[in-house]
Amino acid sequence: MSETLSLKHLINGEWVDGKPGIESLNPSDTRDIVARAPGDDGTAMRAAVEAAEAAFPAWRDASPELRSDVLDRAGTAILARKEELGRLLSREEGKTLPEGIGEVTRAARIFKFFAGEALRRSGVTVDSTRPGVECATYREPLGVVGLISPWNFPIAIPAWKSAPALAFGNTVVLKPASLTPAIAHAMAAILVEAGAPKGVFNLVFGGGAAGNALVKDARVAAISFTGSQAVGFGIGKLAMERQARVQLEMGGKNPLVVLDDAEFDRAVQCALDGAFFASGQRCTASSRIIVTQGIYDRFVAALAEKLKSMKVGDALDPATNIGPVSSEGQLKTSLAYVEIASKEGGRLVTGGQALTLDKPGYYLSPALLADTVQDMRINCEEVFGPVASVLKVKDYDEALSAANAGEFGLSAGICTASLKHAHHFVRNVRAGVTMTNLPTAGIDYHVPFGGTRKSSYGPREQGAAAVEFYTVMKTSYTWA
Ligand code: UN1
Repeated sequence: MSETLSLKHLINGEWVDGKPGIESLNPSDTRDIVARAPGDDGTAMRAAVEAAEAAFPAWRDASPELRSDVLDRAGTAILARKEELGRLLSREEGKTLPEGIGEVTRAARIFKFFAGEALRRSGVTVDSTRPGVECATYREPLGVVGLISPWNFPIAIPAWKSAPALAFGNTVVLKPASLTPAIAHAMAAILVEAGAPKGVFNLVFGGGAAGNALVKDARVAAISFTGSQAVGFGIGKLAMERQARVQLEMGGKNPLVVLDDAEFDRAVQCALDGAFFASGQRCTASSRIIVTQGIYDRFVAALAEKLKSMKVGDALDPATNIGPVSSEGQLKTSLAYVEIASKEGGRLVTGGQALTLDKPGYYLSPALLADTVQDMRINCEEVFGPVASVLKVKDYDEALSAANAGEFGLSAGICTASLKHAHHFVRNVRAGVTMTNLPTAGIDYHVPFGGTRKSSYGPREQGAAAVEFYTVMKTSYTWA
């Protein structure tokens, strides 16, 4: 166990205390309180929005070099402290230490990528249809943007929302998830040290009241949210009521198709990594594994064998392969879905048990449910835990139609040696991201990310696409 951190909101460059509201626990050892942070009834949030609004004109009009330098310094600082920050992240969220350090590294790289993008806020000039007139487009920042981030990527997602927002000249109010305040606080402190002027980046902790205050505030030009579909839909409606720009990244029930001709060991590894690493708590997790009949039994047996050899344990223990789930609620949800799937006729091949280890934590043995069919709840609803189902299909056509079933469309993968099937899948699967001979999870930071249907709403995040959400286009006509 280590010390309990005392966190504060960051408003207008000042660290501001409030009534106690949030306590983050180490899911690997719930006796360890990682951090205490204030909550908010909306008061701190409104003050943060006010500060962000006041800071906007100077930040908007600053040289892109200034914005670029702040982001670059933040990226460098995060990278230099990746071990320590990775440890804090893993202690608070429960992903293993290599996963925690990997995520911190990703956050640092995101800041560095957008340090470059800050200099590339470009438009085009076009000859008008009217001789002598010139048309030009400009990309302008929106103003104050409100960012609501989840606990499962508690630094990478705040980074991939904040970095483009700041790069393109917006000011930010971030409300991080209450399960993981400490790592968000560390990122905010780094942005201050990196030279973000007061009010340009603000951090407010809190639950629904703080979130509502942010989403409903007429001074907030845009909201970017990552989290569950139900919460996202509610935020979308509120934002729409006042015509704020909104971007929602929500759930997935991501299919991983494995065809008979797949490189067998690689396919098993893709399923293992995609479905169970980070304890399956990724919206991109390969939670539906669709396998053709020729290799089905062998595949299920091989994946189950691998799973049995995985050590579930303390996220900070180097011997651990799979950490705990992040909270008691997540543990209960996963256990409930194992039961639902079993009752619906799924065969629990391995796992699905809450584990009692030497430390009190939210440990669950990774669960594999075979012989499921598409219309079972386990194949339609997001579990967000180390729980995956397997479906047996006749051939590629049946696999594709199973992959396309359901309401989500975030990431979809295929393992095959057939160029023909791989290419057909890429073009015909209804998802925003496709992965060929790769797990459905694990995305790069410099290319666009987002889904279709109930998974996402609004423009893509990340990479060169991020400019779409964080700027508004102006078209200018000049006769001179
Ligand atoms: C990844 O798979 O690398 O919350 C990232 C999530 C997604 C990000 C996935 N928005 O899980």
